[in-house]
Amino acid sequence: MNASWLRYLSRLSALVAMALALGACQDSSAPATTAAAPTTSAPAPAAPATVKPASYHAAKYDPIHFKPAIDKATDQQCLACHAEVLKPSVRKASPAGVPASEAKAWYQVTSTYQGEQDTFHRRHLETALAKQLMNMRCTTCHEGNDPREEATGSSATDFGHQTLRKMVNPETTCLKCHGKMNFEVMGLPGPWEQSKATFQNNCLLCHANIRTTRHQVNYLNSKAIEELAAKPNGGDVCFGCHGGRAWYRTHYPYPRHAWPGMDPAVPDWAKGRPTESEVRFIANAVAPGEKK
Ligand code: HEC
Ligand code: HEC
Ligand code: HEC
Ligand code: HEC
Ligand code: HEC
Repeated sequence: MNASWLRYLSRLSALVAMALALGACQDSSAPATTAAAPTTSAPAPAAPATVKPASYHAAKYDPIHFKPAIDKATDQQCLACHAEVLKPSVRKASPAGVPASEAKAWYQVTSTYQGEQDTFHRRHLETALAKQLMNMRCTTCHEGNDPREEATGSSATDFGHQTLRKMVNPETTCLKCHGKMNFEVMGLPGPWEQSKATFQNNCLLCHANIRTTRHQVNYLNSKAIEELAAKPNGGDVCFGCHGGRAWYRTHYPYPRHAWPGMDPAVPDWAKGRPTESEVRFIANAVAPGEKK
């Protein structure tokens, strides 16, 4: 009787220590709860100077998943609970035995693709190309996540721009870099695959002078993009985000920034286009969430 009670106690204190070690979730807006200090075992681990959420449920409904808190969230705050999204986790082989190294999709044999198969999140935040061209954050794509709302407009608390059963809005994120190339408005004789040889695979032949105010948004490294694109076959870099990895058959209606020497008459296809990038992406207009 006594012995089993002791065994129970020691197991319990091990559990408490483990829970504390695991519960280093960082969140500035959760209700302030102070974790009871363990009386028996090891000292509390050096957790960040924030409180851990009261429960899994509380974490799921943490204000950080909702507007307005999510707009100011840093990657570090999200990663305190979601570190797994950036861990390399691609299988070496499919369950049927096909090695990942041999299962290359069409877009994975382009000149800009490097390295082994990697996860979706890592391809946008961690790969060499991603880091060179982009400066994405969790909130570039994730604008809110209500576990009760998988459809838009179905309740009074709905924040209104969720695409059905999606956690991000593809029309305002993915489509920007994964839409079709709008070659018709460029006066190109045909799709880029057919016209690129004529233009030496160099978009800058025209774009050194046309639509020159571009990529002034906080999730792109505009300088690095232009430098890479000026190298031989630099068209592959530009095309990579403007048709080369097109998951959609439509194209994104980009803002049309004024450029020196532009014709003041707006062509029909461009009527109604904004002339500035979305406010939330203009670096100085939004709270500077730090990069992890
Ligand atoms: C306090 C811990 C915590 C923080 C901080 C946090 N999350 Fe979560 N998140 C959770 C939990 C718990 C869930 C519920 C997971 C589930 O039920 O599958 C969740 C769910 C999600 C989901 C939906 C996952 C799914 O499968 O339904 C997304 C997307 C998400 N979080 C993104 C974020 C982003 C982006 C941030 C930063 C702005 C963030 N989270 C911050 C704990 C957290
Ligand atoms: C390029 C856009 C993009 C970025 C940047 C991004 N995510 Fe996601 N995330 C997605 C998409 C798309 C999904 C899948 C959504 C769905 O199934 O509806 C997703 C899913 C998730 C999920 C659900 C679990 C999973 O792995 O599917 C979590 C949690 C999450 N993201 C957290 C984060 C965190 C934390 C960051 C920053 C470190 C981040 N995301 C950055 C687009 C992005
Ligand atoms: C700002 C531009 C940008 C946005 C926005 C963007 N992507 Fe990407 N995406 C890229 C780039 C660049 C790569 C290539 C990364 C590499 O090769 O390492 C890529 C690669 C991919 C890949 C290929 C991954 C692989 O392993 O081969 C998929 C799938 C993808 N993106 C889906 C999405 C989805 C879905 C969204 C919206 C949630 C999205 N992307 C938003 C730029 C973007
Ligand atoms: C023959 C010259 C020419 C070449 C080559 C060219 N473009 Fe264009 N591009 C244009 C013109 C002209 C416009 C429309 C200008 C305007 O807004 O009136 C344009 C517009 C665009 C737009 C904005 C489209 C929209 O819907 O707002 C993007 C993005 C773009 N080009 C990317 C590229 C990329 C990437 C390449 C190389 C793969 C490329 N262009 C090659 C001439 C060219
Ligand atoms: C990493 C992905 C990426 C690469 C590489 C890239 N672009 Fe873009 N481009 C974008 C995104 C995203 C936008 C929309 C930005 C915004 O909302 O202002 C954009 C916008 C544009 C526009 C519209 C400009 C305007 O008037 O606002 C043009 C033109 C353009 N890109 C041409 C190019 C050319 C030429 C290259 C190569 C030098 C290139 N892009 C490389 C992602 C990319």
